[in-house]
Amino acid sequence: MSDTRAKRKFRSQEWFDNPNNPGMTALYLERYQNQEYTRDELQSERPVIGIANTGSDLAPCNKIHVFLMDRIKAGIRDAGGVPMEFPVHPIQETGKRPTAALDRNLAYLSLVEVLHGYPIDGVVLTTGCDKTTPAMLMGAATVDIPAIALNGGPMLDGWWKGKRAGSGTIVWESRRLLAEGKIDYDEFISRVCASAPSLGHCNTMGTASTMNAMAEALGMTLPGSSAIPAPFRERMAMAYETGKRIVGMVHEDLKPSDILTREAFENAIVVNSAIGGSTNAPPHLQAVARHAGVPLQVTDWQTVGFDVPLLLNMQPAGEYLGESFFRAGGVPAVMGELAKAGRLHTAPITASGRTMGETLEGRESVDTGVIRTVTDPMRENAGFLVMSGNLFDSALMKTSVISDEFRQRFLSEPGRENVYEATAVVFEGPEDYHDRINDPELGIDERTILFIRNVGCVGYPGSAEVVNMQPPDAVIRQGVSHLPTVGDGRQSGTSESPSILNASPEAVVGGGLALLQTGDRVRLDLNDSRMDALVKDAEWQARRESWTKPELHNQTPWQEIYRTHVGQLADGGCLELATAYKRVASDLPRDNH
Ligand code: FES
Ligand code: MG
Repeated sequence: MSDTRAKRKFRSQEWFDNPNNPGMTALYLERYQNQEYTRDELQSERPVIGIANTGSDLAPCNKIHVFLMDRIKAGIRDAGGVPMEFPVHPIQETGKRPTAALDRNLAYLSLVEVLHGYPIDGVVLTTGCDKTTPAMLMGAATVDIPAIALNGGPMLDGWWKGKRAGSGTIVWESRRLLAEGKIDYDEFISRVCASAPSLGHCNTMGTASTMNAMAEALGMTLPGSSAIPAPFRERMAMAYETGKRIVGMVHEDLKPSDILTREAFENAIVVNSAIGGSTNAPPHLQAVARHAGVPLQVTDWQTVGFDVPLLLNMQPAGEYLGESFFRAGGVPAVMGELAKAGRLHTAPITASGRTMGETLEGRESVDTGVIRTVTDPMRENAGFLVMSGNLFDSALMKTSVISDEFRQRFLSEPGRENVYEATAVVFEGPEDYHDRINDPELGIDERTILFIRNVGCVGYPGSAEVVNMQPPDAVIRQGVSHLPTVGDGRQSGTSESPSILNASPEAVVGGGLALLQTGDRVRLDLNDSRMDALVKDAEWQARRESWTKPELHNQTPWQEIYRTHVGQLADGGCLELATAYKRVASDLPRDNH
């Protein structure tokens, strides 16, 4: 029998058309033929395109994908491909306990197994809710077959009593109104539910819209894909075009390793600053970069992204929501403005097959009230500060949400601008915070910094969005809407709190935060990007020597596996052992019988 391998064009043919092993080929063929496929489709030189469906009843943010499948498949068919949809482990931000962040790496692992172990030549990654997007990009980067992302799109704008009600952001506002006694429990619920009027993901520039903008800025989507609201007809058209395009990408062998370059990541960082993106973007992009083998450091967020102006006027850093962002031109308009000002790399190739510069040709803001220009931005220097000191090696601060009130109250002491010293009050986790925040004994006032620890990747487990702690009710009634807050967890991308978060290493692995005590003085210095506990070295050392690692309680096998292998947020919160696996598609798995 002659070896026909040289003639094979696609990896799916290793399954479906291998005369060297007729027994296996027949087994693969008979079971796929018993559904919609014919032998001719499977054996002819048509690429098999997987569609990773992240939508389900358990994942409402991505449920729209269930209805987009027909359009994606039509696009794949019309371009000569063979579509095969498969389910992805759900990652619903608002549904999964103890946190959806725990499941990002689980969905990643399972996607790697599916893409590596099945006859798939290219893949459409359906994305949307926060962690679904990085999980899909991480998996595609590891396997390295042609891949394109399709976002489900944000919900329509929410409205409450004539004002825009943005996902998540309205929760934080309503929490304060409830504390002040201005609304009751029922109005709280009604206000928050009004922010979610249709299928789609969060309509604010929370982590979902941020990560989908990141996918587009990286070049992993078709241009203009990410901002289209879920129910719009353009979303259906984009699903069809994305299905068509992935077939072309397979023929061109255009892979994530061609698209995910250092320059593409720098573009994403710049775009994140310009859109007022989420503090969850750094760990997620870090994870994608590590799986792609691209060097990226958490400090790049300050060096590459800090001096970028905020262009997008969208909640939580601004006023508008997803519909306005889309109508103003979406991500291509933001990137077009940045490119005109020379702030982007234009050479990176994108999923469209064209360079980023080519896709941005003629793209600019069509509503400068929503997307401002670089010469007339919402604010200058809108990126993240990457803080360090004796409490942590790195932590992020999102400067685009520092309000005038916050700056005035905490960062404007004459002669000491951007420097603030206060007393620490430390909480051991969200339960401790809720139990004690209103305890008058703690003496929390304007001269207090609130800390929360044990809520990072290992501690929680998964890293919880709890750092944006609300001040005590009594302090809010005095007109203080935010106190400085610090922690080794994260916060929602929809939060307008200028917290210092993602502190790495986290307390439970012995980071400096573990040594802090309520009553310690702490200095925040934004001029130097530093935060330090003002505790004498000998005392700090003594605390370190008496520190013991806390016992952690695992509730499921995955929690234990995750805690054993996960790294820190500054390094992307990856399963460290997984980062050694690169471009695994080139290492074809053995036959299964
Ligand atoms: Fe899913 Fe915001 S909760 S997108
Ligand atoms: Mg969240």
